[in-house]
Amino acid sequence: VASAEDVVVTAGAQQALDLVARVLVAPGDVVAVEDPGYAAVHRLLETHRARVRGVPVDDEGLVADALPDRARLVYLTPSHQFPTGVTMSMARRSAVLRWAGEHDAVVVEDDYDSEYRFADQPLEPLQSLDRDGRVVYVGTFSKSLLPALRAGFVVPPRSLTAALREAKRVTTWEGDLTTQGALASFLAEGHHAAHVRRATKVYRVRRDRVLAGLVGLDDVLRVVPSVAGLHVCARFRDESVDDRAVVARAAARGVFVEGLSTHRREQPVRPGLAIGYGGIDADAVPDAMLRLAAAVRP
Ligand SMILES: Cc1ncc(COP(=O)(O)O)c(C=O)c1O
Repeated sequence: VASAEDVVVTAGAQQALDLVARVLVAPGDVVAVEDPGYAAVHRLLETHRARVRGVPVDDEGLVADALPDRARLVYLTPSHQFPTGVTMSMARRSAVLRWAGEHDAVVVEDDYDSEYRFADQPLEPLQSLDRDGRVVYVGTFSKSLLPALRAGFVVPPRSLTAALREAKRVTTWEGDLTTQGALASFLAEGHHAAHVRRATKVYRVRRDRVLAGLVGLDDVLRVVPSVAGLHVCARFRDESVDDRAVVARAAARGVFVEGLSTHRREQPVRPGLAIGYGGIDADAVPDAMLRLAAAVRP
């Protein structure tokens, strides 16, 4: 829910989070994040000397009951949790908003990759469920176009817009207006929407082939249901598996995947693999999945 005046253009999601932290986070403040979660943002919050606390994530997304009472802000990826791929349930969305109201806290919703959807309608973003002006919505063109553009945006509650604009001005003025101008034309002329439609078809084929490869591994790996984004995640049924060892064996076979345990902070994490298909040709996926299978069952 936004009009043009509500949108602050940033150099990607990362700068959006930096501006939010400049405006809202003081040294020593407790900030809650998903665990496992997106380390680039956790590290950014640490440079603002926040005390970053990991909150567990289950099949419904962040466990809202485990949010620390003293947190000033919670950073979330509800549409496609990074890295597990879980979509946050409606019950959890409501619980997070309730928690924020009760604790006078801010919710930062990072919607980094939901342009690519492969099934049904998305659940409502927290930002449009929010009646209380607590949600800061962050978007980026890093996944829908390319990360080197460094183009993203933030839609804050009205009470924060002026402070975020000022924080941006004192750090990078308006940013790269040449790129932003080109991107604005690209959007206005409908090319971005057309690109996302075309690319969704390409990614769908890759994704289906990854999922087909995982069918043969069903006794070992359980696919985490997800309908968006550029990676799928699967968890080991046997929780004693060392996913880092599997990742290393896959790499030795020329297949690069990520272990869920590398994205954890302090919470125990069920081992699993995040399998990205953003940068591989569909024709190469079946062979890569066979090699991954050999790494999973050495
Ligand atoms: C959770 C998450 N948020 C945001 C981004 C993109 O960040 P940026 O817009 O700064 O490139 C990524 C990229 O991998 C991501 O995984």
